[in-house]
Amino acid sequence: MLILGIESSCDETAAAVSLDGRTILSNVVSTQIEEHKKFGGVVPEIASRRHCENILPVVKKALSDAGRTLDEMDAIAVTYAPGLIGALLVGTSFAKGLAMASGKPLIPVHHIAGHIASNYIAHAELRPPYLCLIASGGHTMIADVKDYTEFEILARTRDDAAGEAFDKCARVLGYPYPGGVHIDKAAQKGDMHRYKLPIPKVAGNDLDFSFSGLKTAVINIAHNARQKGEEIDGDSLAASFQFTAAKMLVDNTMAAAEQTGYRTIALAGGVSANSGVRSMLEGACKKRGYALYMPPLHLCGDNGAMIACQGYYDHIAGKHADATLNAVATLPLGTESPAFFR
Ligand code: KG4
Ligand code: ZN
Repeated sequence: MLILGIESSCDETAAAVSLDGRTILSNVVSTQIEEHKKFGGVVPEIASRRHCENILPVVKKALSDAGRTLDEMDAIAVTYAPGLIGALLVGTSFAKGLAMASGKPLIPVHHIAGHIASNYIAHAELRPPYLCLIASGGHTMIADVKDYTEFEILARTRDDAAGEAFDKCARVLGYPYPGGVHIDKAAQKGDMHRYKLPIPKVAGNDLDFSFSGLKTAVINIAHNARQKGEEIDGDSLAASFQFTAAKMLVDNTMAAAEQTGYRTIALAGGVSANSGVRSMLEGACKKRGYALYMPPLHLCGDNGAMIACQGYYDHIAGKHADATLNAVATLPLGTESPAFFR
């Protein structure tokens, strides 16, 4: 079964063709990072305009790279939530038009479900149920992946997403947007124990995350030093931040595994590219004898392959939408709007 997947929830216009969910025949990503960089973050209006310009060539290239035609597709999957509303609307409207014109089924895919599915592409043996830590620029959560299309959120961030904290700390250290990868590189040269940073306790659900105190602590160290005319050890501050953020992510995931009894863990989302998070999670899982699945680096960030893959599972589960499908900016994983499904 061939699925065309389309993604436009943030600053990447992406499309891919998947075969039977697990095999990727093409994966085209057109990133807008260079354009948003000068503003220090994604400018929603610019993102929407670029998606409008890029979506047709990106989808055409995904089909031609796969050596297939639109006619050969069994269904068209698209990210409809969550994300920047104007950006999501471009992909959703485009996919609706394609589906209506070609008479193909339209599959609305949740962006986070897509990130989770990125591991199916690289790991043929991975099957639900398992526990997945998702850390991206907009979301951070631990999900119980009960089935390919059934999720329960066990923990979430109370404030900033992990990627957001990486990006803000990178900015104060002088790195351009998106800064996560720069923190990662700087951290490899620094001393992770040089700066003691806080790990907040969250009242209520003790599996929940909070990154804003950690982010503020890093910003304050940098600002205070600057005001006093002192030098900071930027690489060590990056390393200390990365170590503390990774510890928060990994400790809570291990606690969630203990509470639920899961021994299979997966990692997903843009921050899953982080070398500190990957190695700490690897160590923690190895110690406990858990199986760990992580996406290859090229599938960590936003891409169309993960949407085409999740689209396959949503398709065979009968999760189809009609022409009333609309984009949704905020929608927790596992709570899709049933009004869109027929
Ligand atoms: O999943 P994603 O591509 O977009 C969203 O859905 O948000 O995640 C983007 C986030 C950004 O905050 C970016 O800085 C972060 O992932 N990121 C990293 C690394 N690579 C990307 N964070 C830490 N270390 C990295 N190597
Ligand atoms: Zn994402």
